[in-house]
Amino acid sequence: MTTVPPVDLKNIQGDILAGIPKKFETTMFFQISNDVEGFRKRLTQIVPLITTTTEVSGHREAISKNKEEAAAQGRKPDLLPIVGVTLAFSQFGLKKIGVNDPIGDPAFQAGQLADAQNLGDKGTTTNGTFTPDWLPAFKNQVHGVFVIAGDSHITIDARLVQIRLILGTTIHEVFSVTGNVRPGDQKGHEHFGFLDGISNPAVQNFDTKPFPGQETIRPGFILLGRDQDPNIANRPAWAVEGSFLVFRYLSQLVPEFDDFLKKNPIVLPGLTPEQGSEFLGARLVGRWKSGAPLDLAPLQDDPALGADPQRNNNFRYDFPEDFQTQDRCPFAAHVRKTNPRNDLESLGISTEKNRIIRRGVPFGPEVTKDEVTQKKTLHDRGLLFRCYQSVIANGFQFIQHSWANNTGFPIQKPEVPGFDPIIGQAADPTSRTMSGSNPQNQTATLSLPTEWVVSKGGEYFFAPSISVLRDTFALGVHIV
Ligand code: HEM
Repeated sequence: MTTVPPVDLKNIQGDILAGIPKKFETTMFFQISNDVEGFRKRLTQIVPLITTTTEVSGHREAISKNKEEAAAQGRKPDLLPIVGVTLAFSQFGLKKIGVNDPIGDPAFQAGQLADAQNLGDKGTTTNGTFTPDWLPAFKNQVHGVFVIAGDSHITIDARLVQIRLILGTTIHEVFSVTGNVRPGDQKGHEHFGFLDGISNPAVQNFDTKPFPGQETIRPGFILLGRDQDPNIANRPAWAVEGSFLVFRYLSQLVPEFDDFLKKNPIVLPGLTPEQGSEFLGARLVGRWKSGAPLDLAPLQDDPALGADPQRNNNFRYDFPEDFQTQDRCPFAAHVRKTNPRNDLESLGISTEKNRIIRRGVPFGPEVTKDEVTQKKTLHDRGLLFRCYQSVIANGFQFIQHSWANNTGFPIQKPEVPGFDPIIGQAADPTSRTMSGSNPQNQTATLSLPTEWVVSKGGEYFFAPSISVLRDTFALGVHIV
């Protein structure tokens, strides 16, 4: 038996396991010019700017200390000027810089554009060729992406200027988008209003103190070439300690979603129409807006539970009634579809290989008064979805295609679960339904007339290790 070495936190890009702290984030997609040698030489100067996992851990400690000091002095903490950078390449980018050996991931090697129809994205077919309704940038071979995250536009822009100055004309920027944590009490909530970023798996040897209920997965399900990487035998040396970064630009139709909730409140004795609408929203997501999981708080919100990391992940859909009924949480609810916990484990099926680490951020303005009045999206907003995994076909692609879009999942249930109401995509977007939205009438199907999350495209990227960026991808004299 070969032993796989433990992970080297100084070598792994910081966003993957630790998550670069952010209030704002700019994602810049680029193509490499024909001066490939120039690009690879200049990459040597970029490498020290790429944030490592060890650095992120240091940043997080500094942030906690800063908060504690401010609390002790009875004041609000000042924001620390901290910025972090992630760099990843598409298969086109790798080919462009001469990295041609296969990485052992067919989805990455084909690119996301080739996967669009399979994922359920909308588009048109002409002469047998499907063209998705995506932003032009994602239909034109993006080579790479920088994600620059930090405390303010000022720190982020300064780092972006530095990157631009170093790379000069060796890259051509094709598209940039800025995301931001939402203001005020919506901090940490996505645009439909639900607290996000609560449930990510812990990674063995890194997250040594997981929260109750937080599953620990072996590093190779996120990092290539590490313990339990399902394709470890097919990885070239340069792939080790890298991870696949899936990016999706997902627009959210918030006024339309809110209008749907308003028009379809769950009618139960004692609930006002407003409470009935709030309850329906929770039944679609599987958590209340506060983050409280329906499996633990099935009838009413419990904000203290939602905010408490010691409790808000400590559920498995394993109450005796859970497997066969939708009393607590609908089978199709977004969080149950995307992490079915005991629904599969009780059948002896492990989901460890299907776990992903999510690092998305909202983009776009808050909903305006006009949009509320017209019940219509007038300004583009949504989620810059980003997740990491070691096999795209087990992670993002599987969750989207085989779980969210699959009406029969979770399997072996008394009612057909239906589509994930948040991200499930159907060939006919007006045809989606789900069961179990009303706990008192679980066989009834609810029509979901609109896909409130609209994919505008994305790409499959690979975030290499720091040493590979420095010693294999970059060309240059290294000053130690
Ligand atoms: C605009 C689109 C999306 C919205 C509004 C959204 C919203 C949410 C919310 C509110 C949660 C609960 C908070 C948490 O558990 O961290 C969540 C969890 C989750 N989402 Fe999404 N999401 C979106 C897209 C996606 C996509 C594209 C995927 C993957 C294909 C995905 C996979 C997951 C997973 C795996 C979880 C954790 C479930 C758990 O462990 O219980 N989401 N999402």
